[in-house]
Amino acid sequence: MAYIAIIPAAGLGSRMGYNKNKVFIELNGRSVIERTVGLFQSDVNCNGIYLATREDEVEMVKKELSAHPKVKGIFTGGRERQDSIYNVLKKIPESDYVFIHDGARPFAGIDLLERVYEAVTRHKAVICGVKVKDTIKRTDGSKVMATLDREELLITHTPQAFDYELIKAAHENARRNNLAVTDDSSMVEALGEAVHIVESDYNNIKITTREDLIIAESIIAGRGERK
Ligand code: CTP
Ligand code: MG
Repeated sequence: MAYIAIIPAAGLGSRMGYNKNKVFIELNGRSVIERTVGLFQSDVNCNGIYLATREDEVEMVKKELSAHPKVKGIFTGGRERQDSIYNVLKKIPESDYVFIHDGARPFAGIDLLERVYEAVTRHKAVICGVKVKDTIKRTDGSKVMATLDREELLITHTPQAFDYELIKAAHENARRNNLAVTDDSSMVEALGEAVHIVESDYNNIKITTREDLIIAESIIAGRGERK
């Protein structure tokens, strides 16, 4: 039993406002994408890593990941994250499970990968996330419509892990029905399948805006990584 990891890295990084794709930003000497892929490289349950990248960045990604032999394929992404993932999903070999993890999320620990793996062997669809710390309100843009019950809310992270056949069926269904979603779990939910939740870690941030770089540096310092 093993899984294949799909890592979407074909975004523009527009919210970062950096002069190149944010996955190439270096944090203490290692790029975001190399850190992310390195994590899956070190997971014994992972037997192949496949990435989606922008066409003009394939060579750069290859060079960046040359020390990670589990990287078996780098394919061109699409317009939306879900298109990028679908492009890869079509090309991967059959496997027991598929993990999908944002290229821009370099701090998922090996312990989280192990817990998600253990869960996906028992449930066909698994996501991870953390509890909401703030109070969340629904608004119409200028007025409060409702205050949501925090206990019922989850901030979702990746990895999300699925049975191989299920995630393929979910992506194909989403395309047939033009479902626009921001995570893979939503497509599985659309099929009426139950999705199991595993607790993630607040450090498992997605590098999205400039402030995240400061948080990233402090996570790295907190881990005692040498300069
Ligand atoms: N991604 C992708 N293909 C896209 C869009 C996003 O592979 N068409 C990837 C990104 O590279 C990132 C992950 O999906 O690793 C999560 O997306 P996000 O954080 O939104 O990254 P970007 O789309 O690059 O950033 P922004 O939305 O600010 O432009
Ligand atoms: Mg985006």
